[in-house]
Amino acid sequence: MNRRTLLTRIVQGFSITGLGFITYPFLRAWVPSFDQDLGLEIDLSELAPGESKIVHWLGRNLHVIRRTNETIASLTTVDQPLKDPESQASAQPIFATNAYRSLRADIFVGFSNCTHLGCDVVKQDNGFKCPCHQSDYDAAGRVVEGAAAPLNLEVPNYRYISGNLLKLEPSSAGDA
Ligand code: FES
Repeated sequence: MNRRTLLTRIVQGFSITGLGFITYPFLRAWVPSFDQDLGLEIDLSELAPGESKIVHWLGRNLHVIRRTNETIASLTTVDQPLKDPESQASAQPIFATNAYRSLRADIFVGFSNCTHLGCDVVKQDNGFKCPCHQSDYDAAGRVVEGAAAPLNLEVPNYRYISGNLLKLEPSSAGDA
């Protein structure tokens, strides 16, 4: 490569870099999805104790439940054998590695997909049941011993914006 070619390549490199710096702010302004916030806010204000709702986020369903005091108490006195009671092998953010598998004991948020083959589990009085091969989970999404499902239901990353407003956020490295 002669000197002239080298200089041409250097100038081209600077031009491309400069073009990137100039166009980025315009793309952010003109294309809303370019810098999209993939988070989803969930209003909990209408959920009474014992009530739940299903929300759709990033192509999957999630159960959001406001637990009763009885349900909360039942999670610390496990009366049925669980496959992963401490959630050591299951998927959840670090903040949810506890008996409630949640940030707050009264609110549970978990993906609906059974960890066997991915069917949507159905909420029941004391937990969840998978309609495909009958795997049972408790009210913290912990799978019961003997089920076909190998792991607890996955818990997404989220945070509270206020007492009744929760925001789902894509996991960042190191969250899980
Ligand atoms: Fe849920 Fe098989 S998919 S038990």
